[in-house]
Amino acid sequence: MRKKIVAGNWKMNNNLEAGIKLAQEVLEKATGNEEAQIVLGTPFIHLNKLAESIVGKKGIEVAAQNCSDKASGAYTGETSAEMVKSTGVNYVILGHSERREYFNETNQELAAKLDLALTNNLVPIFCCGEPLEIREKEEHYAYVKQQLTESLFHLSANDFAKTVIAYEPIWAIGTGKTATSAQAQEMHAELRNHLADHFGQELADTCPILYGGSCKPSNAQEIFAGADVDGGLIGGASLNADDFLAIVNSF
Ligand code: 13P
Repeated sequence: MRKKIVAGNWKMNNNLEAGIKLAQEVLEKATGNEEAQIVLGTPFIHLNKLAESIVGKKGIEVAAQNCSDKASGAYTGETSAEMVKSTGVNYVILGHSERREYFNETNQELAAKLDLALTNNLVPIFCCGEPLEIREKEEHYAYVKQQLTESLFHLSANDFAKTVIAYEPIWAIGTGKTATSAQAQEMHAELRNHLADHFGQELADTCPILYGGSCKPSNAQEIFAGADVDGGLIGGASLNADDFLAIVNSF
């Protein structure tokens, strides 16, 4: 059976104190028997503290929200995959649409980030998804498949087996507008077929594909019911421990 994952993406929210408090609240309120792996995607400033106080407790994991496409060197302000790993966390979110849009991340750069993440034993949560105009032109399947082809298809079977994918239609992020459960399931099934064409059915069948975009306690159960929807990447609702855990418990 595929692993189920519900990951929070705090984005650029919570200073050090507020982030620790939120993570502690999630830890206290989690039962440890959740059906889904809980991952907290936090700003870099929280990683080391949370690695010490949260990672592994009740099975909770912590993710960075980015890493550099360079291994080390004179890249002021950047944080390498090796540095992320050295904090004690095990996951990294890569290629979020906000990073693609505001920081011009390309599929090719993301391929390099994936390599560095995997070399440093970080589990990448690779984000993909189409903007509204692409969906309106009905080119969304081709668009998202190309993101996977250009960033993931160079991976070895071994590395691909460690990779998590998050489909986040950009028009559903922070807008209150979710994809319908049918739209999410259709895209996830398309992506899994695309992965199967390249990596083989067996590996494609083990790859968790998460949905992201205005996921809330009120709609998570319906969205997660899709056969190819293996969990969620949660923005706004992950900033509240009760809402986040309600989503985690929506399977
Ligand atoms: P919202 O849940 O706030 O729509 O954000 C989704 C997202 O971007 C998660 O990475």
